[in-house]
Amino acid sequence: MASDRVDVLVLGSGGREHALIAKLAESPTAGTIWAAPGNGGTRSVARSVDLPIEDGPAVAAFAKEKGVGLVVVGPEAPLVAGVGDALRDAGIPTFGPGAAAARIEGSKAFAKNVMEAAGVPTAAWQSFTDEAEALAYVADVCDRQGGCVVKADGLAGGKGVIVAATRTEAEDAVRQCFGGAFGDAGKTVVVEELLRGPECSLLSLTDGATVVALATAQDHKRALEGDRGPNTGGMGVYSPVPIVTEDELAQMTEVNERVVAEMAREGTPYAGCLYGGFMLTADGPKVLEFNCRFGDPETQVVLPRMRCDLVQVLLACATGNLDPSMIGWDEDWAVSVVLTSAGYPGSYETGKLITGVDAAASLDGVTVYHAGTRLGEAGELLTAGGRVLNVTAQAPSFEAARDLAYEAAALIDFEGKTLRNDIGARALLGRDAWEV
Ligand code: AMP
Ligand code: GLY
Repeated sequence: MASDRVDVLVLGSGGREHALIAKLAESPTAGTIWAAPGNGGTRSVARSVDLPIEDGPAVAAFAKEKGVGLVVVGPEAPLVAGVGDALRDAGIPTFGPGAAAARIEGSKAFAKNVMEAAGVPTAAWQSFTDEAEALAYVADVCDRQGGCVVKADGLAGGKGVIVAATRTEAEDAVRQCFGGAFGDAGKTVVVEELLRGPECSLLSLTDGATVVALATAQDHKRALEGDRGPNTGGMGVYSPVPIVTEDELAQMTEVNERVVAEMAREGTPYAGCLYGGFMLTADGPKVLEFNCRFGDPETQVVLPRMRCDLVQVLLACATGNLDPSMIGWDEDWAVSVVLTSAGYPGSYETGKLITGVDAAASLDGVTVYHAGTRLGEAGELLTAGGRVLNVTAQAPSFEAARDLAYEAAALIDFEGKTLRNDIGARALLGRDAWEV
C-alpha cells in the first residue's frame, strides 16, 4: 500500500488467530488483513485465502503478490517447517522464529539442552533413542519417585506427553513412542522427573535481543471438571494468574530472557513469541516446555488486556526494533471459557447450527473468539471443529470476569455444546487448592 498502513497476513485458523486478527484490526496502522485460512469469525475483519501454510515459497509468493508488509505465523507447524525463513529470504517482515530457533518447540531434547546451557530450572531429564535403555531408566526413576513423564521428542499435536503415575504406565508410554504411535516424533524419547504444583504460562515477545514479558495466564488442559479426563488443546484460561507471587513472576521473566540470550549466543537467534510453560513448584518455577508461538487459548485472554498497536509491536519484533514502552496493560481480569463439540478431544460431529453469539458478544466486556466455526451457504454459523468458541470476559475483578464469561456462554447454543463449569475455580480458592 502507498500509505503508512501495513497489509498483514495471518497464518492459522483457531481462536488464537481470531484474537490476533481482532487486535491487529484495531491498529490504526493496519491495512488489509488476510487470514490463511481463518474461520467463521475472522471473516468480519479479514479476507480469507486458501494457502498451503506449511509451504514457505507458496506463502512468500502470495505475500509478495499482495504487497503484504507483515506475516504473523500462528501455529507451530509452519514455523518448525521453516516458513519464517522462506518469508525472510523473500524480504518479507515475519513474526515468528526460523526453523533453527523453532526447534525450542520442535524438539524437546533440543529445548532441554538450551535450558541446561542457559542455566534455567527444569525437571531432571534424559533423552533416549534406544527402547531398552529408556525402559531401564523409567524403571529406575519410577521405583525411586513413583512416576515420571514420558515425552515424544518431536511435534505430536499436543498428544506426545504422557504423565505416568506408575511404572507400568511409564513403560507402556515408552513402548508406544518407540512403537510409532507418534510417528517420527517418537523416535527420540525424553523422560522427565514428575513435577508438582500449579501451572502458569508466561509469554514473552522478543526481537532477538529485547525481551518483553506479557501477562501471566493459566490454561485448563484436561477435558473434565476437577482437572480430570484426557488432555485437550485447552478448555479455559484466565489472566493474570492471581496465585503467582512477585518473586515467581520475576523468576519466570528472567528464564525467558536467559533463553533468548542463550539462543542468540548459540547462533540460533530467537525472534517472535516465546511461550514459557512453567510448574510453580515448592522450589520455585520450573520449565515444563517452551513453545515457539503464542499460546492457544492464552492469547484469547492476554491480547484483549494489552494496550498497544499490535501491528507495530509485531513488526518491531520482526525487524529488531522492539521497545518495552510499546506495550501497556489494562488493569482488569480476563477469563475465557471454551465451548466444545460433544466428544472432544475424541471424535465429534460438526456442521451444527450455532445461535446466540451476537447476544453473548453484546454484553459489555464480552468478546467471542471463534475457533472451529465456518459459515454455511446462507451465511449461517456452523460448528467446524472440536473447540468451537472462546467466550472471553473482562471485568474489574476475577469473580466478575468469571461470572460474566459464564453468563455469556449460557446465551450460546449448538447441539452437543460442552464446557467446563470450573474455569478459575481453583485460583479463587488460592494456592492451597493445588496442594497434593
Ligand atoms: P508439555 O507439552 O511438555 O507442556 O506437556 C503437557 C502437559 O503435561 C503440561 O502442561 C503438564 O500438565 C504436563 N507435564 C509436562 N511435563 C511435566 C512434568 N515434568 N511434571 C509434571 N507434569 C508435566
Ligand atoms: N495452551 C497450550 C498451548 O498453546 O500449547
